[in-house]
Formats: sequence, structure tokens, C-alpha cells
Amino acid sequence: MKKTLVLDNNFGKFSGLTLHELLSYETIQNRIREMAESISRDYKDSVPIMIGVLNGSFIFFADLIREMSIYAEVDFIKISSYANETMTSGTVRLLKDISCDITGRDVIIIEDIIDSGLSINFLKKRLEGSETKSVRFASLLIKEYTKLDFDIDYVGFTIPDKYVVGYGLDLAQKMRSLKSIYYLNQDGNK
Ligand code: IMP
Ligand code: MG
Repeated sequence: MKKTLVLDNNFGKFSGLTLHELLSYETIQNRIREMAESISRDYKDSVPIMIGVLNGSFIFFADLIREMSIYAEVDFIKISSYANETMTSGTVRLLKDISCDITGRDVIIIEDIIDSGLSINFLKKRLEGSETKSVRFASLLIKEYTKLDFDIDYVGFTIPDKYVVGYGLDLAQKMRSLKSIYYLNQDGNK
């Protein structure tokens, strides 16, 4: 039986809507182990700098790096593209830049989810100005209709076009601590 959760009064217009489990904690962990193995294999002769995109990626990042068998350095960047709780605004703002020197280094960008592609395109363009040795992208989730003109090198799961929460992903800044990933049923029939 898949788990469900009903949103309480802390969720304003979403109160009363149901969250349905999409990916269990075990399913996520098994996939992360495979992703960590691929990355460890691909970078066996390197010490990459892994840049987590805040806030959503922090739990995925922590689990991924602890399953890796190579050394990696860690940094963070913070961007924002959401106008309200579940809709993108169309413009990306840089809220916190990286603080390490990525010149001549192998860089891996760690995202939680790719939806419209706006954020990952913004990050790609920003890094094009730096003299890195290489840049690759890892995302735990990508939505099935997402169109990009470049490849995401490491993808955890391709998911339906629904708003998802948990495992770092938020709804109005809450629900990041859920261990599984849930989708929000916004179809009107709860
Ligand atoms: P994009 O720019 O539309 O690709 O979305 C990028 C960012 O929006 C992601 O890194 C997430 O932080 C957030 N986001 C997109 N879709 C979802 C979702 O379904 N749940 C929670 N956050 C999301
Ligand atoms: Mg994100």
C-alpha cells in the first residue's frame, strides 16, 4: 500500500489536499547508490568539485556523496526561480554564488529536480564563463516533458508532470524533511 498524507491548516490554499507517495525511501536510496557508483567510476582519477543547488538538493547531495568511493570537494550555489509555491516565475535570481575556485577543475552540479529547465540552463550559462576542466550535471529527478538542448549526465528518476515534495523538495518551504517523495494531487478530486 502506497502511503498518503493530508495537508493540514499550515498549507493555506493547499490545506485538505492529499500527498501520494511516488518514490519510497528505499527506492531512492537504491538509485542513489547506483548513481554514486557511476560517478565514482567516471571520476576515479580526479577529485571533482560537487556544487549543490540550494535549497532543494541538500538531502540528495548528502546521501549521494556518502555513497561515493572517491574524494570530492563540496560547495553550494543558491538560486530562485519560483514566483509562488508551485509555479515558476520565468526569471532566475542568483541568491548565493559559489565560493571555491573552479579553474581547471572537474565540476558536477547537483540538482534536486529539473522541471522547466530554466534553472539548469541558467547554471550552465554561468559556468560557461569559467575555465573549468569539465562540467557535468546530476539531478535526482527530471519531469517527463522537460526539454533541454543538452544532456543531464546523471539522472535518478524521470517522473510524471506533477508537483512533488519531500526528500529536500518543499511545498511553501515545508515538507523537506519527508523521507519519501510524494506528489501533490491538484486534480480537484483530492
Ligand atoms: P526549473 O527551473 O523549472 O527546471 O525548476 C528548478 C527548481 O524549481 C528545482 O531545482 C526545484 O528547486 C524547484 N522545483 C521544480 N519542480 C518542483 C517540484 O515539483 N517540487 C518542488 N520543487 C520543484
Ligand atoms: Mg532546485
